[in-house]
Amino acid sequence: MYRTHHCGELSLEHLNQNVTLSGWVQKNRNKGFIIWTDLRDRYGITQLVFDEERTPKAVFEKAQGLGREFVIQIQGTVIERESKNPNLSTGAIEVLVDDLTVLNEAKTPPFTIEDQTDGGEELRMQYRYLDIRRSAVKEKLMFRSKVSMAVRNYLTDAGFVDVETPYLIKSTPEGARDFVVPSRMNAGQFYALPQSPQTFKQLLMVGGMDKYFQIVKCFRDEDLRADRQPEFTQIDCEMTFVEQEDILNQFEGLTQHLLKSIKGIEPNPFPRMSYEEAMKTYGNDKPDIRFGMTFCELNDLAQGKGFGVFDSQELVVGIAVPQAAEMTRKEIDGLIDWVKRPQIGAKGLIWVKCNADGSHKSSVDKFFNAADLAQWAARCNAKTGDLILVLSGDSHSTRSQLSALRMELGERLGLRNPEEFAPLWVTDFPLLEWDEESKRYHAMHHPFTAPKPDQLELLKTNPGAVKANAYDLVLNGNEIGGGSIRIHDQALQSQMFDLLGFSKEEAQAQFGFLMDAFQFGAPPHGGIAFGLDRLVAILGGEETIRDFIAFPKNNSGRDIMIDAPASLDQNQLEELSLKTTLTKKE
Ligand code: AMO
Repeated sequence: MYRTHHCGELSLEHLNQNVTLSGWVQKNRNKGFIIWTDLRDRYGITQLVFDEERTPKAVFEKAQGLGREFVIQIQGTVIERESKNPNLSTGAIEVLVDDLTVLNEAKTPPFTIEDQTDGGEELRMQYRYLDIRRSAVKEKLMFRSKVSMAVRNYLTDAGFVDVETPYLIKSTPEGARDFVVPSRMNAGQFYALPQSPQTFKQLLMVGGMDKYFQIVKCFRDEDLRADRQPEFTQIDCEMTFVEQEDILNQFEGLTQHLLKSIKGIEPNPFPRMSYEEAMKTYGNDKPDIRFGMTFCELNDLAQGKGFGVFDSQELVVGIAVPQAAEMTRKEIDGLIDWVKRPQIGAKGLIWVKCNADGSHKSSVDKFFNAADLAQWAARCNAKTGDLILVLSGDSHSTRSQLSALRMELGERLGLRNPEEFAPLWVTDFPLLEWDEESKRYHAMHHPFTAPKPDQLELLKTNPGAVKANAYDLVLNGNEIGGGSIRIHDQALQSQMFDLLGFSKEEAQAQFGFLMDAFQFGAPPHGGIAFGLDRLVAILGGEETIRDFIAFPKNNSGRDIMIDAPASLDQNQLEELSLKTTLTKKE
């Protein structure tokens, strides 16, 4: 037997008991006549004592050779510690060792396996298995397991059936590129890895499964960010005979359950905001509503006063930054530089200080008088001591620039408290999005999303104005879930493909299976998918999903531990009929 207890278990209750422990050597303190060793496993750390006088000589000598991360097994007696460590669950005791077996030696690890490590990101990823030994990472993985178990329990109790769908499929258009897999048996043909199980879950509804869920890997070949990985996990769900309201209620229930069971929070019913309102008041379809600084549009007040920068623009819009009027010129210049960076792309930034004496001082005093500025302040709900920041330009870019600035200031002013949770539903997304480059419509969510039932006529006359029965769940400024009511009618689905620029033949070739299925009694249905990685990270108080994934990819999409992706040898390429393709390219 390797152990009678684990390393986080022993306390004064176990005094004088003979125990066997196994684990890793975290550190040794060798005083010559006595050695203290911290023994670590997943559960905790237990202090071992090798004492020249009380430990058998051979064991004491063997202990001299223990290095960091050696895997050992010991037997010994639980004794009370002289100086107790209140920070450790086992801090009141230590184990006086009388037998030691080295189960495996270890090379000196490339970084310290402590909460605060000296290892950089790259090194930690290369030796991820060592990184996982650190409690910081280990606890995140355990937290993830707890969240996904709570999800499974909740959905299973609610009557959802866990069904697996295939990974080797044909591409589903979700807006990203597919990862493809060459087929050996079908020379020159490729599978695609699913960007989501979207069409399969719809077919499960046609198959009568009624309520489906799956915690499932999805693959998208897109540029990476802190909240994106090329392979990530969805909590994918679909329901039959439901309207939007049923889905929102069901999945608000799931989210409430997680907030309660994982964070001990009793949230209020989630607010709902239309896409249009979110864009107007936050410049963003995933607003962080933990703090204010909502947008105030100033066109009517700020245009026509001779300030050329504003006059010709589609939108003049500002935010009032609470208690920031004290900012120095240098600090404001810093903000101006910040919005002018290419990532943000603003041309400049206008400011107005709301001074303590009720007066206003601005960077455009030449064009606007005291009464004008007072009107701006009133529109922005600015209080004494606030700083109003204003951007102008075309609506789309200006909103997104001001939104980025709002988030940055929220962060700098400490308004984005990771222990506060502010979920909301964003609804009524446009069905279609016009793409200037390709001069055609794209589906805003995906091509299977249903238009609002009363807007079917509009779909013929002004498709760009049609709203969808689509919704996102937003938490603390992050899109953690999205879904829609689906089209279940073959004719409407076909009309949709038409609008998206598919020829009849293309639609048939790509989605014939779905449109065929719709002719065999497809029920009304709808669903949602949550990004599990994002959900877990945010519940865990962070926004970077990488640490909540056991073996993540780096920013170039590489796994630097196993060194993937990698080239294939000639034989393999030939077997996959890929050689010719590559030679052609060369
Ligand atoms: P959508 O594309 O909105 O919808 O994806 C659902 C959720 O998945 C998460 N997500 C990601 N997480 C990490 N890395 C990524 N690269 C990534 N991409 C998306 C987000 C997002 O809200 N089939 C539809 C769902 C449906 O209609 O039911 C879909 O996939 O949190």
